[in-house]
Amino acid sequence: MKRLLVTGAAGFIGSNVCRLLASEENYVIGIDNMNSYYDLDLKQYRLRHLQALPNFTFRKLDISNKEAMMAVMEEFRPTVVIHLAAQAGVRYSIDCPDAYMHSNMTGFFNILEACRYGKDYVEKLVFASSSSVYGANTKVPYAESDPVDQPVSFYAATKKSNELMAFAYAKLYKIPTIGLRFFTVYGPAGRPDMAYYKFTNRLINKEKIRLYNYGHCKRDFTYIDDISKGIALAVKGSVPVQDVPYEIYNLGNHQPVDLLEFVQTLISLLVEHHLVEKEEVDSLIELAPMQPGDVVETYADMTKFANQYHYHPHTELKDGLRCFMEWYIDYYGLHK
Ligand SMILES: NC(=O)c1ccc[n+]([C@@H]2O[C@H](COP(=O)([O-])OP(=O)(O)OC[C@H]3O[C@@H](n4cnc5c(N)ncnc54)[C@H](O)[C@@H]3O)[C@@H](O)[C@H]2O)c1
Repeated sequence: MKRLLVTGAAGFIGSNVCRLLASEENYVIGIDNMNSYYDLDLKQYRLRHLQALPNFTFRKLDISNKEAMMAVMEEFRPTVVIHLAAQAGVRYSIDCPDAYMHSNMTGFFNILEACRYGKDYVEKLVFASSSSVYGANTKVPYAESDPVDQPVSFYAATKKSNELMAFAYAKLYKIPTIGLRFFTVYGPAGRPDMAYYKFTNRLINKEKIRLYNYGHCKRDFTYIDDISKGIALAVKGSVPVQDVPYEIYNLGNHQPVDLLEFVQTLISLLVEHHLVEKEEVDSLIELAPMQPGDVVETYADMTKFANQYHYHPHTELKDGLRCFMEWYIDYYGLHK
């Protein structure tokens, strides 16, 4: 049995990754500070499901607390560290950059230090980066070799900084490291601060939704199960043998969808479940100009990840959104 440490275990991606890895003959310790950036009930709900698994243990811990982080590493001695804890969200980084310094900079540094001091037992670090590092890049699809020196949000700047910090530690201390740039992850028990979740809340309450860039932003929506499988492959697979044992991969769907099309799929599911009337749909959509910090299109070139791990995410948007909607209806007791 491998001993795996997952940070951000009560988060959207972290909880799914913990569940998948714990079902695969691993022993998983999850850590999370259970902050209230979004509904804590949802984090507790995810955690309750995990705590029912025999080979999962949870520790409430803030990764910015270096002493506590070192102590849990020494106690547990994981072979792989899967670092998913972060202050996420592009827009919130405009209002509250301190939260990003705390978790994404200090916290990330502590993860690197913990891996350095745990070199005797840590075989690999896998960490979450983001498609937001591509910033104002207009060349699509986004390839890992594209320049990523012009972030358009502070969130993106912290993620790009993480990649540089991790590279330096991989070079200096030979810690095999994989960074994964996720592209707009969605699915059941997802993040309530993300557009698809907020749109669902608002449409059900008959409130208008605003589509920025007049609905013409494209996102490479990636279903949570596809992301979890990709992370599990990075955990199990090898890091290419080279001078610096460090690689960055896109983990997206390679199928960008226009926001308007996305919303129409969401609305058709709401209509199907009698949560929105067909006649009121047009009055609920407001088209607005572009927002600061946003990018027009995200589109993952998946060649590098597919070549290394022989895997390509494949869930169709309509299937993934249906799973989200069924979960949402159950969770909020909206059966009609
Ligand atoms: N969801 C996406 O679309 C997406 C896209 C790109 C990158 N990412 C990255 O993937 C990772 C997981 O994202 P998510 O969507 O699951 O977000 P999430 O907010 O649901 O999960 C992050 C978890 O980390 C925890 N956390 C935050 N700061 C912490 C700290 N200082 N100490 C301990 N725990 C802390 C939070 O409580 C939360 O449960 C993040 O690094 C995020 O930046 C996510």
